[in-house]
Amino acid sequence: MGFEVDTAFIQPIEHRPKLTILEAGGIPLIDLSVLNSQNSDDPEALSGLIAEIEAACTEWGFFQVINHGVSSELRRRIETAQKKFFHLALEEKHKVRRDMVNPLGYYDSENTKNVRDWKEVFDFIIQDEKVIPSLGEDKNQELQVLSNRWPNYPPEFRQACSEYSQDVEKLAFKLVELISLSLGLPEKRLNGFFKDNTGFIRLNHYPPCPSPHLALGVGHHKDSGALTVLAQDDVGGLEVKRKTDGEWVRVKPIPDAYIINVGDIIQVWSNEKYESPEHRVVVNSERERFSIPFFFNPAHYLMVKPLEELVDEQNPPKYKEYNWGEFFKSRKNSNFKKLGVENLQISHFQITQQ
Ligand code: OGA
Ligand code: NI
Repeated sequence: MGFEVDTAFIQPIEHRPKLTILEAGGIPLIDLSVLNSQNSDDPEALSGLIAEIEAACTEWGFFQVINHGVSSELRRRIETAQKKFFHLALEEKHKVRRDMVNPLGYYDSENTKNVRDWKEVFDFIIQDEKVIPSLGEDKNQELQVLSNRWPNYPPEFRQACSEYSQDVEKLAFKLVELISLSLGLPEKRLNGFFKDNTGFIRLNHYPPCPSPHLALGVGHHKDSGALTVLAQDDVGGLEVKRKTDGEWVRVKPIPDAYIINVGDIIQVWSNEKYESPEHRVVVNSERERFSIPFFFNPAHYLMVKPLEELVDEQNPPKYKEYNWGEFFKSRKNSNFKKLGVENLQISHFQITQQ
């Protein structure tokens, strides 16, 4: 590819990264050890934790967690399998390539907001099969069964992915419960929304980039689901837009920690008490980077709207209700092909106040 990148990767000037790193006053670090069985019935410790979650969600929408209960052994196994898979020849990876109808598997030309990302990915869902609204062009076929595409190499890949995903899903449920409590709701208020959930795991690989000042690993965006639970390696590159001044702040790699961010759905449920933060990934010319987000999303048939308990006359609903499956489908299709128009955003469901 020479010293310059293909024009499809080039960000508009206002979105190009400054390569000086701002790490000061980073996102909150929260210790979840209170949730371990020995400590879980200490009400004071629990209310302290809930207050920390509330502050982190209000001020940043981003935080890191430690002592989270996900096995570090399982994490190392999936990270090793991830590295081996992405280092295979392109021809081998193309055997599990996603297509227009089934978005699961390998993919190396994703667009964020119509600019190409400097990355390759592999997506899989936690259960091996799931029903979602059909992504194909056939209008008569409304639902489709999604199924994982597993590569033959490395041979341990499938098991490493499946076992890891069980642990991460448990952590995601714990976080949803804490967030529910932090909104003043019962612990399990949100759990029912995740029956038949459409959560999926993405393996990301960001190769070294010859022009890190022009391209991005992932362009600026908000995650459209409920909650993201992300493992990053020690390279760094994830940046969050700080709410107070709009500066891009680097999320410092902490070994074995998880980075949590609220997505658009929590923004809508909470009627904007919590906002889905803007973030992006900066690449570099020396080291490849790997990350593993788990996108925790509700069932496809769920209608998303501000929770009744959180709206009243003084604080009327800020969003019209929308169907999660349809929203997801529209986003997936726009990631697959460059569109001439802006892709679907929750702001399109915003109710303008008189
Ligand atoms: C994403 C994302 C961050 C990262 O895939 O939506 O924001 O560090 N990834 O890979
Ligand atoms: Ni994201």
